[in-house]
Amino acid sequence: MRPTPTFARPTSQELASFYQAAGHAFHEPVGPMELELSVQRFEPQRCAGFRVGERWVATVSSYDQQLTVPGGIVRVAAVNNVTVAPDFRRTGLMTRMLTDQLTDVAGEGIPVASLWASESGIYGRFGYGHAVDRLALSGPTQTMAFHPEVDLGSGWVEEVETAQLRPVAPPLRAAWSPTRPGTVDRSPAWWNIVLRDDEQSRDGAGPLRHALHRNATGDADGYATFRIARPPGDWRQLQVVEVVAHTLPGYARLWRFLLDIDLVRTFRHHQCGTDEPLVHLVADPTGLKRELLDGLFVRIVDVEQALRVRRYAVDVDVVLDVEDPLLPANTGRYRLRGGRDGADVTRVNDEPQLSMHVRTLGSAYLGGVSMATLARAGLVHTDDDACLARTSTAFGWDRAPLAADFF
Ligand SMILES: CC(C)(COP(=O)(O)OP(=O)(O)OC[C@H]1O[C@@H](n2cnc3c(N)ncnc32)[C@H](O)[C@@H]1OP(=O)(O)O)[C@@H](O)C(=O)NCCC(=O)NCCS
Repeated sequence: MRPTPTFARPTSQELASFYQAAGHAFHEPVGPMELELSVQRFEPQRCAGFRVGERWVATVSSYDQQLTVPGGIVRVAAVNNVTVAPDFRRTGLMTRMLTDQLTDVAGEGIPVASLWASESGIYGRFGYGHAVDRLALSGPTQTMAFHPEVDLGSGWVEEVETAQLRPVAPPLRAAWSPTRPGTVDRSPAWWNIVLRDDEQSRDGAGPLRHALHRNATGDADGYATFRIARPPGDWRQLQVVEVVAHTLPGYARLWRFLLDIDLVRTFRHHQCGTDEPLVHLVADPTGLKRELLDGLFVRIVDVEQALRVRRYAVDVDVVLDVEDPLLPANTGRYRLRGGRDGADVTRVNDEPQLSMHVRTLGSAYLGGVSMATLARAGLVHTDDDACLARTSTAFGWDRAPLAADFF
């Protein structure tokens, strides 16, 4: 008879075997550096799973992070390492882990959970909604001249070593992240992973390289991280990892630097926002390939708290009916009165104007998926088109959310 797995939390000494079990389920061998850095980043009390004897046959973990939402920041459980070993799949282990995890997250008072899905059909049943699309940009570098009126400012770009970037990039990113919904804060342990550059992390490309933008007075106000790959029999390719800039001239000049690197013919950047300005800096974007990929899934764990913490693009006063079979405490009617200066959310018994599953609210939460679109997909129910239009506008935001942090 198949042994029955038992629920367990890894001790600090067991985190390595826990992470290796997750890597095995992802069919990805875990190298020594990845193992060391990932274990350092774990929050052991947020790791759980099932095991048979010493062997982990199921894993789940999360990080306690800060997620930028429109006009604010919310505490988020950044969920990852959801795995079940192939010989224990479809026996309900994931369901038990994710359900228990959501109960724990709610018990801790964390209003939102979020994750990246390896396959997008997995998480809807747990109330996670597809909230952020990722734009993958690629194309030839040599035809990417900018419009003549693009302001490159009077700063400059210098290439720097990782050791030089290390003290500069974290504060730049920490100041930039609160302006970009969808991004999360990065701990020092996470930066170690971002800047990791062993052979395995290169995935066939060259070493990790960095460019720093300095403004006219010499202050660093942006950076880019990239690799250069040479696919067999092909020209070199620029692989952009991240571009963070506080100003448009810094952003434009960093991209100009990247696109002008000699001996490179093509580029790609898979972590762009859907409103990436680069598309509009380029004079002739004909060759620019734009591909939409899955990004973040969002799970509203506490409707009241989550709606209160964000801001709304226009004033809104609406009664929402939210259904949450998995966390029934969430199910109910909420009056949301909000705008650019704040929001008030109260439970009411009034007739709802818009009704939806908590998964749908998660999709709309970061402003990346319009509530009107969700209504057209049959996921928001209403008889009041004017209210839907206004609420949909209110849930939007000035910038599209960005799924830039793979956790
Ligand atoms: C995805 C994974 C964790 C599922 O674990 P599991 O224990 O088999 O899941 P469960 O038995 O609890 O399944 C619950 C439900 O989810 C469904 N489901 C599971 N994996 C699914 C998938 N990849 N796509 C769509 N539905 C899926 C099951 O069919 C089941 O549906 P049912 O209740 O209607 O029968 C496991 O297959 C795995 O580890 N895969 C490889 C790693 C991976 O992709 N992890 C996800 C990281 S984001």
